[in-house]
Amino acid sequence: MRTYLVTGGAGFIGSNYIHYMFEKYGDAIRIINVDKLTYAGNLENLKDIEDKPNYTFVKADICDKEAIAKIFEENDIDRVVHFAAESHVDRSIKNPEVFVQTNVLGTAVMLNCAKAAWEQEDGTFKDDKRFLHVSTDEVYGSLPDDPNAYFYETTPIDPHSPYSSSKASSDLLVKAYVDTYHFPAIITNCSNNYGPYQFPEKLIPLIINNALAGKNLPVYGDGKNVRDWLYVMDHAKGIDMATEGGRFGERYNIGGHNEKQNIEIINIIIETLQELLPDSDPRKANVTKDLITYVTDRKGHDRRYAIAPDKIKEEIGWYPETMFKDGIRLTIKWYLENEDWMKNVTSGDYQKYYEGMYANR
Ligand code: NAD
Ligand code: TYD
Repeated sequence: MRTYLVTGGAGFIGSNYIHYMFEKYGDAIRIINVDKLTYAGNLENLKDIEDKPNYTFVKADICDKEAIAKIFEENDIDRVVHFAAESHVDRSIKNPEVFVQTNVLGTAVMLNCAKAAWEQEDGTFKDDKRFLHVSTDEVYGSLPDDPNAYFYETTPIDPHSPYSSSKASSDLLVKAYVDTYHFPAIITNCSNNYGPYQFPEKLIPLIINNALAGKNLPVYGDGKNVRDWLYVMDHAKGIDMATEGGRFGERYNIGGHNEKQNIEIINIIIETLQELLPDSDPRKANVTKDLITYVTDRKGHDRRYAIAPDKIKEEIGWYPETMFKDGIRLTIKWYLENEDWMKNVTSGDYQKYYEGMYANR
């Protein structure tokens, strides 16, 4: 049975990935989820699988060398899938240090512990061990408003925010381990994800939540910044395929082929909510474009991200399957059907879940 060590599995993408993996492989795999449970970690995301005998949660900081080394000592880990990070650009602008701590130093700890566990006396690595580092397209910087300009794997690294700089640094560390030790690692750089369980500080869940609450919908700058949106389950599949089919030392871009201006996204959310909310719902009358409010732009706001996911398609056979019109509908439906999840997140109650659930374990 293959054993996965997933870091940051209580976050948005990590929890969707864990769901994807159990749906795909069932009891043929074991997953150990190590997460510090920062404000972004929410074990409620995983409550349907928490009693599975082949799933274990470990509350630990990836910067804690002893705690991470202990997991490797006690388990024969075959795959590390490394999501854990501080992930929000606005927070990185306010408080960069924790981004360096977790994203750079934490990645160094993960690499070092995996190397110590997997390296053999002759300096080669045990067979069939793989480390997948999850990164972002933001490491490439910003593109002009030219529809033919894309990020390729060969695009020079040119990050601008403290978040993207810390992710670029972690990518370079992974590369250094491959180049120096022939460490078995692969990097993926993906575009903006959307889907269930995303913390409402990111654009799409924030707009859904504010619209339902009749609050202003804040648009940074002129609203014409472009992001490429990727449905999170497509991403989960891409990570799995890159882990198994990727070549060591290579990076693979994972994108949705779905570029949209922020203002377009906001308009689509308002229109979809209008369609999905029943006439009897008193909130429906408030969900209008009148809520759109232009606010001061983000400092250093990257203008446009767009990914060419050709390499992963050609080498590994992955491509984005979910059309945005379907993915956004699924996502909004999920938020409407899981209003307690959102209430617990916005009230802070989700942080009590760990105490209740894991107090006696
Ligand atoms: P998230 O913020 O939702 O989740 C991060 C998880 O990591 C949380 O569960 C948190 O508790 C955990 N964590 C944070 N610091 C930790 C530490 N020191 N030790 C252990 N656990 C810690 O993030 P996400 O959106 O799921 O992103 C996951 C990964 O994907 C990140 O590496 C991010 O850079 C990358 N990424 C995300 C996007 C996106 O659109 N969300 C796009 C590109 C890349
Ligand atoms: P975000 O979801 O924070 O992702 P990222 O900055 O990593 O791409 O933001 C997506 C885009 O939406 C980005 O251009 C900033 C913009 N934005 C707003 O206009 N208003 C908001 O309230 C937020 C959170 C983001």
